[in-house]
Amino acid sequence: EKAGFEHFMMKEIHEQPKAVQDTLNSVIKDGRIDFEAVGITEDEIKGFEQIYIVACGSAWHVGMAAQYVLEDMADISVRVELASEFRYRKMSLNPKALMIVVSQSGETADTLAALRLAKEKGITTMAIVNVVGSSIAREADKVFYTLAGPEISVATTKAYSAQLAAMYCLAVQFAKVRGKITEEQYGYYIAELLTIPEKIQKILEDKERLQWFAAKYANASDVFFVGRGIDYAVCLEGSLKLKEISYIHSEAYAAGELKHGTISLIEQGTLVIGVLTQNELYEKTISNMLECKSRGAYLMGMTTYGNYEIEDQVNFAVYVPKVDEHFMASLAVIPLQLLGYYVSVAKGLDVDKPRNLAKSVTVE
Ligand code: F6R
Repeated sequence: EKAGFEHFMMKEIHEQPKAVQDTLNSVIKDGRIDFEAVGITEDEIKGFEQIYIVACGSAWHVGMAAQYVLEDMADISVRVELASEFRYRKMSLNPKALMIVVSQSGETADTLAALRLAKEKGITTMAIVNVVGSSIAREADKVFYTLAGPEISVATTKAYSAQLAAMYCLAVQFAKVRGKITEEQYGYYIAELLTIPEKIQKILEDKERLQWFAAKYANASDVFFVGRGIDYAVCLEGSLKLKEISYIHSEAYAAGELKHGTISLIEQGTLVIGVLTQNELYEKTISNMLECKSRGAYLMGMTTYGNYEIEDQVNFAVYVPKVDEHFMASLAVIPLQLLGYYVSVAKGLDVDKPRNLAKSVTVE
C-alpha cells in the first residue's frame, strides 16, 4: 500500500507531480482554462469586488501564497484569514465578494463554520477541496476539486500542492476574464503551469542532498525560515512541516521582520533557512540572512538554478528549477517537505502519525 516507500508521507511526496498534473488537467482544455465543472461563469468572475480566502494550517498557507498571485496577476483585493479567527470576528464583509475555503478533508470544523457564516451573509462561496462528497464540498456554492487522491500521512504534501495548482488556475482565469492580461500572457501562464509537474519530479530526483543535510541538523533545537512575498508563504509551510513531524521548534518570518525582534534569538550555529526564488527580493532577503550569519547563524539558502553566487553567501545551497515567479511556491516547497521528512526519519519518529495530531480536525 506504500508502493515501496517506507512511509505514506514519502509516497505522497512522490505523488505530487501527478496530483498537480491531474488538478491542472481537470480545468485546462486545449490550452485554455474551463471552469464549467467548477460552476463559475465569466460574468461572476467579472463581478467580484473582493476575495476572502479562509482555511486552517497548510491550507491557510496555500491562501497566503495565492494572495500574492491573485493580487499581482488579477489585480483584485484578497484577504486571507484563519478560519478559527474569521468565524469569531466581526468583519465588515463585502457582499459582492467571493469567499474561497480551502480544505483537504472537507471536514475541518472551523473552515466549515466559516463557510456557513459567509453563506448566511449572502456571499458567494467556493471550496477548493480534495474529498468528494465531504461536508464542505456539499455546502459550498462552487466546488473546485483537487485531484490529489487519498492522503494518509497527517502532514499534508500532495493536497497542498494540488491546492496551489487550483489557486493558480483561478488567478490566471480571473486575470484573463477581468482584462488584466493579454491573450499572449494567458497562453504563456498556462504553458508555464503545465511545466510544474516535471519540475517537481526533477527536484525529487535530487533528494539525497537533503537527506545528508537533515542528518546533520537533526539535533537542532530551533530553526528559522525567512523569505519575502511568496517566499515568505513557502517559509510558513516549510516551518510547519518541520515542526509537526520532527518536533524541532521552528518559525517562519518575513525576512524584513528579523531585525524587529527575532534576531536576538540567533546564536552560534542557529540554522536559518532562506527561500529566495523572487528575483526582485533576492538582495533584500540575502542581506537579512547575512546579518544572521554575522551573529553566528548557519545559513541554508534555496534559490533557482543559475543564481550560483549564493554559494559565496550561504553555507549550504539548494537549487530548484525555474518557473514563472508567480508559481515558484510549487517548486520551493518540495525541498522543505523533504527536509522535514528526513529530519523526522533521522530522529526515529513516527513520520506519518506525529504525536498529538489528527488527520482531520473536526472539533473546534
Ligand atoms: C499540516 C496539515 C494541517 C491541515 C489543516 C487543515 O500538515 O495537514 O495543517 O492543513 O488541519 O486541514 P484540511 O485541509 O483538511 O481542512
